[in-house]
Amino acid sequence: MKIGILSAGGDCPGINAAIRGVGKTAIVKYGMEVIGISNGFSGLIDMNYEVLTEKKLSGILTVGGTILGTSRIKPFKPQEGDTVEDKPQVIKENYHNMGLDALVCIGGNGTQRTANLLSKEGLNIIGLPKTIDNDVWGTDVTFGFDSAVNIATDAIDRLHTTANSHKRVMVIEVMGHNAGWIALYSGVAGGGDIILLPEVEYDMDVVANTLLNRSEKGKPYSIVVVGEGIKVPKKKSAARFIGKQIQERTGLETRETILGYTQRGGTPSPADRILATRYGAYAAELIHTKNFGSMVCIKNNQITSIPLEEVGGKTKLIDLNNRLVTKARNMGVCFGDKF
Ligand code: F6P
Repeated sequence: MKIGILSAGGDCPGINAAIRGVGKTAIVKYGMEVIGISNGFSGLIDMNYEVLTEKKLSGILTVGGTILGTSRIKPFKPQEGDTVEDKPQVIKENYHNMGLDALVCIGGNGTQRTANLLSKEGLNIIGLPKTIDNDVWGTDVTFGFDSAVNIATDAIDRLHTTANSHKRVMVIEVMGHNAGWIALYSGVAGGGDIILLPEVEYDMDVVANTLLNRSEKGKPYSIVVVGEGIKVPKKKSAARFIGKQIQERTGLETRETILGYTQRGGTPSPADRILATRYGAYAAELIHTKNFGSMVCIKNNQITSIPLEEVGGKTKLIDLNNRLVTKARNMGVCFGDKF
């Protein structure tokens, strides 16, 4: 059997651990031939690939990013400047030209949507969910998330000391797109006083009053953790907007930090290495058992799979009855809403 692996969408820590998990299991346990497709789905269009041997898969477990490269090409969405007319057709032809029996698509929501469509086109596809955002529907956790939360929490920890020295309000914006998972987890882990999530409509009066109350109670500083996807006027950064509003409404000295791509870079946390390895190894098993058209997932710490059709690129957002949100509220954390 010959299998291909590609990584698509935004990178995250743990992709190489997953590639290694799929590749080594496929080669060592099942005697399969493995090729790595470069730069996401574009490598399938221009036949850009390399053979992945055991040697090539060695030494990559701890390395961040993806050895295969990635891109945000969406084969089923015509884009301006397209030179290839029918990308899905070209991909189908090249899949057969490369002699593939199966293809593992490592990626987030967009990638799983494409994976499902390719599966419907008759290709043997296995989806493998990754993203720092943790917003892939159908799985409890994606790898990359734990590393990103570690990085964001470390940043928040560092803001506490400088905030205390200067008696300031510190606003920190973390990634997560339209989902607030990184904001919620790093906010709670980092002892944020206010956590603004894209899923919760905030009221600036509530935010300002919470900060003024803290100040009146003698709390010398405050930490506000903001998910990048919260609603703000067009083209404004979440942190900059919230920081300016706070300064204007409270008169408290406020500074902003936008954490950005550091959250996606560097070595994966041990938890992400393990999750990615488990996902990868299971993907190879699914290929061996010809369980195509499915996405690897984790439910209650059990690695399993669900039909790609059910996932279809849907987004997993934070439910407001989320237990961590409730626990944090009970401890006085403000989510910016009138609760
Ligand atoms: O999906 C991961 C992510 O880092 C999001 O948190 C963020 O909104 C987005 O990707 C950034 O995308 P790009 O790499 O295209 O700038």
